[in-house]
Amino acid sequence: MTTVIKGGTVVTADLTYKADVLVDGGKIIEIGEGLSGDTVLDATGCYVMPGGIDPHTHLEMPFMGTYSSDDFESGTRAALSGGTTMVVDFVLPSPDQSLLQAMDMWHNKSGRASCDYSYHMAITWWGEQVFDDMKTVVQEKGINSFKHFMAYKGALMVNDDEMYASFQRCAELGALPLVHAENGDVVAELQAKLMAAGNDGPEAHAYSRPPEVEGEATNRAIMIADMAGVPLYVVHTSCEEAHEAIRRARQNGKRVYGEPLIQHLTLDESEYANPDWDHAARRVMSPPFRNKKHQDSLWAGLAAGSLQVVATDHCAFTTEQKRYGVGDFTKIPNGTGGLEDRLPMLWTHGVGTGRLTPNEFVAVTSTNIAKILNCYPKKGAVLVGADADLIVWDPEAEKTIMASKQVSAIDYNVFEGKKVKGLPRYTLTRGFVAVEDGTLKAQEGHGEFVKREPFHAVNKALSTWKELTAPRKVERSGIPASGV
Ligand code: URP
Ligand code: ZN
Ligand code: ZN
Ligand code: ZN
Repeated sequence: MTTVIKGGTVVTADLTYKADVLVDGGKIIEIGEGLSGDTVLDATGCYVMPGGIDPHTHLEMPFMGTYSSDDFESGTRAALSGGTTMVVDFVLPSPDQSLLQAMDMWHNKSGRASCDYSYHMAITWWGEQVFDDMKTVVQEKGINSFKHFMAYKGALMVNDDEMYASFQRCAELGALPLVHAENGDVVAELQAKLMAAGNDGPEAHAYSRPPEVEGEATNRAIMIADMAGVPLYVVHTSCEEAHEAIRRARQNGKRVYGEPLIQHLTLDESEYANPDWDHAARRVMSPPFRNKKHQDSLWAGLAAGSLQVVATDHCAFTTEQKRYGVGDFTKIPNGTGGLEDRLPMLWTHGVGTGRLTPNEFVAVTSTNIAKILNCYPKKGAVLVGADADLIVWDPEAEKTIMASKQVSAIDYNVFEGKKVKGLPRYTLTRGFVAVEDGTLKAQEGHGEFVKREPFHAVNKALSTWKELTAPRKVERSGIPASGV
């Protein structure tokens, strides 16, 4: 059974043109004019684009004494409803747990996914077993990226010596290190000081994580990556200080990528001043929302190419879970949702305002991500042979975001009341039509794990340069007699 998407305009990261797209066996088999198929999807007035890839989600994540409430079932349905056809989640080994065992636990959870998924592996502790497991993970298990938390002291945080060791291992294996860049030592001190002063509300979460802690850690990670001879991906870049460090590094020839979130692009710090405790606590995430100066910097970075991708860091906690932190802001589970709203919000506030072109929208929501994470052109492309992960995007369709109508399992939405213009008319996951005329028909278990190969080009380029410029012993023709 073939499916044809007819009458639309194909929009990719670099081209815009009128064409029909023919799909069979989960793949794109032909692109051209006047195609026919068994099932016809009408794309008149619509853009046909690669499905969104969210490079940063936490589904059913064990964190801060609880589990995030969207799991692979509700989370991937939410993703598809908003036009995202692949998510990349984080495997989090507990202390002393083998990476392979942790990965098995994630596979047990992800079987219910209705769209494709991949994993980053977190380095949460360091030792010989981790060093050894990293090789198996890269060479046999299809994971080529390792996450390092520079914050969450006493829990997920790793220190500089562990990070440097792990980055060097990534360099050897052709893997990409990721960092959550905040200075965890300084955050812990600021938290204690604020609590001691009676500053225990959700707004203190933001006070304890100023842009400086992010800028410092981002710069430190960049320098450590450079010394290890490895590229670096900085997750949830939220402020000018971090963006500046990334921009400067890139101008100096370092291979560094930055990932703003849709939340940081569109929501600001005034949310924490809301007199309603629940309202503010629901928006507690790390890094916190910032002011307009930082938002403008992130938008500029996407247009200029100094920041490459837009994610959600989807990590959804219910109001009841957020209330664990009444009287102590450090106990509010950190995280916000966004999976089903990322594309409509970015289209509305990016393309709708002229800050992004439709091609740039495709680049930052899909193609750049697939390239950076090494699954292009299987994902992130409208090309013959690519997976038929596609969206038929109606730029005229509108809705108001409301928790009462969302797919996500939680009881509120941080974008509540926002009007969006631009929604998927159809979403296809490997050819299966999961959104039809705006109605969700996701199929539990349809999602498959996407294996990602180690990086060849970028890591090879860096290791070649590192080797060429390595310190060398000076060979001398004669050595003077000792002066004694
Ligand atoms: O607050 C956040 N971002 N929660 C999810 C875990 C993380 O730091 O990415
Ligand atoms: Zn993080
Ligand atoms: Zn995260
Ligand atoms: Zn299927």
